[in-house]
Amino acid sequence: MTQRLLVRDLAQLATPAGTAAPLRGSALGEVEMLEHAFVLCSGGTIETVGLMANLPALDDDVVELDARGLCAVPGLVDCHTHAAFGGDRVDEFSLRAGGASYEELHAAGGGILSTVGATRAAGEAGLRETVERHRSWMLRAGTTTFEAKSGYGLDRETELASLRAIRDAGGIPTWLGAHAVPSEFADADAYLDFALADVLPEAAELAEAADVFLERGAFDAVQARRYLEACRDAGLTLRLHGDQFTEAGAIPLAVELGARSVDHLEATREEGIGQLAASDVVGVLLPASALFLDRPMPPARALLDAGAAVALATDLNPGSAFCESLPLVCSLAATQLHLSPAEALAACTVNAAHVLGRAERIGRLAPGYRADLVLLDAPDWRYLAYHLGGPVVARTIVGGELA
Ligand code: NIG
Ligand code: FE
Repeated sequence: MTQRLLVRDLAQLATPAGTAAPLRGSALGEVEMLEHAFVLCSGGTIETVGLMANLPALDDDVVELDARGLCAVPGLVDCHTHAAFGGDRVDEFSLRAGGASYEELHAAGGGILSTVGATRAAGEAGLRETVERHRSWMLRAGTTTFEAKSGYGLDRETELASLRAIRDAGGIPTWLGAHAVPSEFADADAYLDFALADVLPEAAELAEAADVFLERGAFDAVQARRYLEACRDAGLTLRLHGDQFTEAGAIPLAVELGARSVDHLEATREEGIGQLAASDVVGVLLPASALFLDRPMPPARALLDAGAAVALATDLNPGSAFCESLPLVCSLAATQLHLSPAEALAACTVNAAHVLGRAERIGRLAPGYRADLVLLDAPDWRYLAYHLGGPVVARTIVGGELA
């Protein structure tokens, strides 16, 4: 007999409405809310959601969880992290606090390349341990599904070890094979010759998507196109880091190649907003990264109001966003990006699930979806965004089991 779990007496239950994905426009802000509710999970899937007043009589096979004083929202989905890295960048963080800029440190050989050194030195066992640790932090913050990118190995062995470590920790691996040009290569083209010939064939077996850092000092639009076209031909979904510091053609390229997402967008202006809004490409907003680097926030309201599909993610990484908390990202979305709590919730559940190609199974509290829930220690589900940096997550349930 399958074990069933009844989460009962919830103060509130909130879920993005409907079944469509990605949500955009006014649909992004439509939340279905039940007061005094229950969720019945069976075999890892949600069987029923309803009002306590309508709770049916249940057999003895049901384990009950008393959720008085708590609110349920769908398990959070982090669709953009760099959880596979060695070492830290706390020295660089301190230098930045004293006025050094992220781009200056990068140009001086620090930044991403210093993490590449530490990641290569960590070895596969070290990387596995680190990804596991980051996964446990995310889970405590209510993240029940996470994507993570390679991109700090930039050699064959460490890139593949990163992707395996992510996969084995239950993450969804993305090959960020074009993150920076490692120092043993003369230039970006020489590095891409190597990466596409020697790493892509096996990376494509391990990863679901490919990502590129299209930016001044990293890869330009011609190089990004070459990388992405090769990855698409190998069967990978396409994503881009674009418009973080400068507009260098990421949005038009993403639209032309049918990418799943373009992420960052802090530097996006009117024309890019219009192009993205008219496309199926999701704009992934990373306000923790803008905050951590003291950079301008992305033009979120303009994107939403133009009709773009947006998602929210942490960007967890050692340099630009040492942050695993989607509740904190929701607070930033409300206070800095001017999203309503309902828009923020949909952006880090349904829309993030869409970015990961899983919107039919995760991101909502409704029958047939995976039983991934976050129980908030709050009388109102909007505390998800309202409780700035507080311990808002009381319990996390993954696949019908208490985590
Ligand atoms: O998304 N911008 C490129 N990559 C990461 C940061 C990487 C790092 O600083 O280590 C990002 O911000
Ligand atoms: Fe990133």
